[in-house]
Amino acid sequence: MNSNLSEEMAMLNDNVIDLSKTFKNIDKFKQLMCWYGCAIREVRTKLEVLNDDFQYSHSRNPIDNIKSRIKSPKSIYEKLIRRGYEVSTESILENLHDVAGIRVICPFVDDIYTVAAMLTAQDDIKVVQVKDYIKNPKPNGYRSLHLVVEVPIFLSAGKKIIKVEVQIRTIAMNFWASLEHQIHYKKSQENVDDVVAQLTECANVIYETDVKMQQIRKNLEAQGKLQME
Ligand code: GTP
Ligand code: MG
Repeated sequence: MNSNLSEEMAMLNDNVIDLSKTFKNIDKFKQLMCWYGCAIREVRTKLEVLNDDFQYSHSRNPIDNIKSRIKSPKSIYEKLIRRGYEVSTESILENLHDVAGIRVICPFVDDIYTVAAMLTAQDDIKVVQVKDYIKNPKPNGYRSLHLVVEVPIFLSAGKKIIKVEVQIRTIAMNFWASLEHQIHYKKSQENVDDVVAQLTECANVIYETDVKMQQIRKNLEAQGKLQME
């Protein structure tokens, strides 16, 4: 670690950082966080509108629930340092794509792709990255569709284009990811391969169930036997 880096790391304590020391222009930093909040609201509204409209056209909802968060100043700072980027508001805008995060939980696997297609087809949304961890699960079994989109927000002084990370997954995938996140296994411990293998097995079983549940729904739909709400 070079001396600059260690000095900067020393600025951090366990949970909080001194914003005024870390980001030279604190007002600009707060304004930037406000923009990310606005971008989250824009994308969330788009998703809610799509979900409401789908209810009329298909008599069911492709979205079960939506969660969102803005990355904490400490996590923003640590990520900038970890990746060797400058610590500034300009650098955050340019280099980080997950300051604004939205998680969309869908009932069925095909809903994930339906929601992603409906959102990204909108002419004010630009897709900058797609990571399909459903077609290509992570080695530990993690599955989700990750999109990074750019959305315009309209401010008193004009328009800003803001990046938002959208993670879309099923209720079942979310169940696995939430629990896996809570199991803080030490990557260095002896039986780590065994732990990962067990988690991967759980992820695979859960995915098989996801696919089966979808097939049950599709069969009933095809037979016209699905009770519409
Ligand atoms: P980050 O620096 O973590 O944002 O990595 P990245 O930009 O390479 O993105 P990636 O697509 O790998 O993962 C981004 C986010 O997806 C993470 O912050 C988690 O919210 C989620 N995620 C990715 N992998 C896993 C996993 O193995 N388990 C769980 N529970 N969540 C994961
Ligand atoms: Mg992230």
